[in-house]
Amino acid sequence: MLVLGIETSCDETGIALFDSEKGLLGDALYSQVALHAEYGGVVPELASRDHIRKTLPLIEQVFAESGIKAEQLDGVAYTAGPGLAGALLVGAGIARSLAYGWKIPAVAVHHMEGHLLAPMLEKEPPAFPFVALLVSGGHTMLVNVEGIGRYQVLGDTLDDAAGEAFDKTAKMLGLSYPGGPAVAALAEKGEPDKYRFPRPMTDRPGLDFSFSGLKTFTLNTWQDSTQSEQDRADIALAFETAVVETLAIKCRRALQQAGTRSLVIAGGVSANTHLRQKLEEMVKKEKARVYYPRLEFCTDNGAMIAFAGCQRLLAGEHENLAFTARPRWDLESLPAI
Ligand code: KG4
Ligand code: ZN
Repeated sequence: MLVLGIETSCDETGIALFDSEKGLLGDALYSQVALHAEYGGVVPELASRDHIRKTLPLIEQVFAESGIKAEQLDGVAYTAGPGLAGALLVGAGIARSLAYGWKIPAVAVHHMEGHLLAPMLEKEPPAFPFVALLVSGGHTMLVNVEGIGRYQVLGDTLDDAAGEAFDKTAKMLGLSYPGGPAVAALAEKGEPDKYRFPRPMTDRPGLDFSFSGLKTFTLNTWQDSTQSEQDRADIALAFETAVVETLAIKCRRALQQAGTRSLVIAGGVSANTHLRQKLEEMVKKEKARVYYPRLEFCTDNGAMIAFAGCQRLLAGEHENLAFTARPRWDLESLPAI
């Protein structure tokens, strides 16, 4: 089965072709980072308009590069949520219209399901069951995954998502958007152990997260410092270390609680090098294994949507002519296949 995937939930237009027999046949990504940079964050209306400009040309590009023609397709998968309402509507409208014109089914994909299945695009995919840590700009979740659509949320954030905390910290430190990579790059120049920041909610049982207090702690430390370049780097490192260690502690607990030895990590923050190193160390001690998507599929992309959509279409799922956009969408409500 050959599926076109369309991702437009936030500030990236992602297009891909996934074939259930041959694997990934092509993908392309257009990032709106430059468009939003001068505003210091994503401007939803600008995001929607840019998706309108980019989606069709990017689909044509992927077709041309992979030598695939529309007639060969068996279905169209698109991100229906969660995400920015306007941005989702663009992708949903285009996907549904193309599927209608091509007389093939369309399927609405949950963005976080896309992220959590993304490591399955790699050569050595994880087997079910596994625990997934989903860390993106909008989510920080630990999920027990027993199969596709069989998701039990073990822990969630009570306030800011991990990526959001990176983005807000970057802003406080005067760094550019997007904040995660900027904080991570600056942290490389930081002196370890200059500061020790709290590891929120690790002193009590449970798998929920909270990053808002850590963000305030970071701001106060920055304001009380001499605000030199070295202070900025030291604080970036202390913040990053606190987030990374907090995530690692909770992942270890989640593996123990779920009784599995496979950990999947996905979403934009999973691109963070220190997080990957820390999780590698942790799973070694636990005699477990950690699986990631390749770097370019950690952040938003069309491949994960084409893959997840293909699995659902293979299971016979598709929708009627009314397309879906769900800015808020509970992961646990998805049907099992
Ligand atoms: O999954 P994603 O591309 O979009 C959402 O679905 O939110 O994740 C984007 C988030 C942003 O908050 C960004 O700052 C963060 O991932 N991020 C990182 C890194 N690369 C991206 N955070 C920490 N370190 C990184 N290297
Ligand atoms: Zn995402």
